[in-house]
Amino acid sequence: MPPLPPPVANTHGIELPARYRICLLTDEYTDWVKALYSDGFLLRATPWVAMNRTAPPGRSRVNLALSAFTELDGFHRYLVNSGLSYAIFDTEYAFQRPGSAEAGGHLYWDDGGVFLGQHEHQRQQNRGDYDEDEEDDAKVNRLVEGMDFPLVCYGLSYDAFAPYPAETQKIVNAFYPLRGPMFEYIDQHLDKRPRDHPDRQPPTRPREILMRNGCITKRGYEGRGLMTALNRFIALEARARGFRGLSLGTNSPTVMRSYFFNADDEKKKGKNPMAAAGMRSSVFAHVDNLGQFRLSDFGIKEENGIDGKEVYPFRGYWFSQKVWLIWCDLAPLSPSSPPR
Ligand SMILES: CC(C)(COP(=O)(O)OP(=O)(O)OC[C@H]1O[C@@H](n2cnc3c(N)ncnc32)[C@H](O)[C@@H]1OP(=O)(O)O)[C@@H](O)C(=O)NCCC(=O)NCCS
Repeated sequence: MPPLPPPVANTHGIELPARYRICLLTDEYTDWVKALYSDGFLLRATPWVAMNRTAPPGRSRVNLALSAFTELDGFHRYLVNSGLSYAIFDTEYAFQRPGSAEAGGHLYWDDGGVFLGQHEHQRQQNRGDYDEDEEDDAKVNRLVEGMDFPLVCYGLSYDAFAPYPAETQKIVNAFYPLRGPMFEYIDQHLDKRPRDHPDRQPPTRPREILMRNGCITKRGYEGRGLMTALNRFIALEARARGFRGLSLGTNSPTVMRSYFFNADDEKKKGKNPMAAAGMRSSVFAHVDNLGQFRLSDFGIKEENGIDGKEVYPFRGYWFSQKVWLIWCDLAPLSPSSPPR
């Protein structure tokens, strides 16, 4: 196998089986990250499907996933190149095709124009129209099988002092029209912290607040503790670099749990370096049921001629209806700190 990227010098006590290696992400891995994103967030389905507003419940999301691959390129490239985003590589990954083994991994989504080429054509002719039949399993399988590379889990982040450029922000908001209004709603109505709380203030310098921006584990690698290990590594690495806190939003109970420590962890702090380091997380905003919201709650008056009061944008989809916004305090405990 050609060399993989070098492992991080210090895992901060995070232990993984020897076959896995935590590495800093660099630009050359952007396409693999984008493919994992399209699968993890859109084909496997998260609220982002609903925030896009073009793939109704029960309909194919293949075109949506492929659109994301193309349209969110700048967004992913910015995150991958932040110097704060990491991935886990499998050093014993079994390549499916000889060509990928030689290259150290390959994404076959543009193989002879079969997927992306065809999609581009359709997109240009019929932009925004995903009028397809039920999900085409064969297409999804080909996309999944086309991800023949050893990058098996990623965690993206950026420094809140250096958010992505306005142009990129505009593209992301256009792709997810509900994103801006929903975060505005959360900020206005659900954030439990007082307005003047220090953790709510914009950073005044670099390396103060880390913004986490998604994590995915490749199909076939789930349930091995990879995401938990990577999220905790990133928190510890951020602390080592001087960040005082990190902020994230998730609708995955599993991701939420990766930031908290149960009684067992407390007994075995050595096994959980985050707990051992005294880090503490708290939920600053919580949604129990996304399905309760109407478009009008987010200030959207109408959609396709239908009154916003009548549209429940998250209903009918197969994804968790809960959301947690989490703050993780990274500041080292000083002898004078009150007990947390
Ligand atoms: C959510 C997602 C990232 C989880 O990744 P994962 O690598 O399977 O997560 P983990 O293996 O760390 O944890 C999964 C479960 O396995 C358990 N687990 C199994 N082996 C483990 C081990 N060796 N160490 C720690 N946990 C282990 C965890 O406790 C966890 O249990 P829980 O769900 O009851 O909390 C993955 O399913 C995914 O990519 N989903 C689609 C995209 C998505 O929803 N991303 C999150 C958006 S913020």
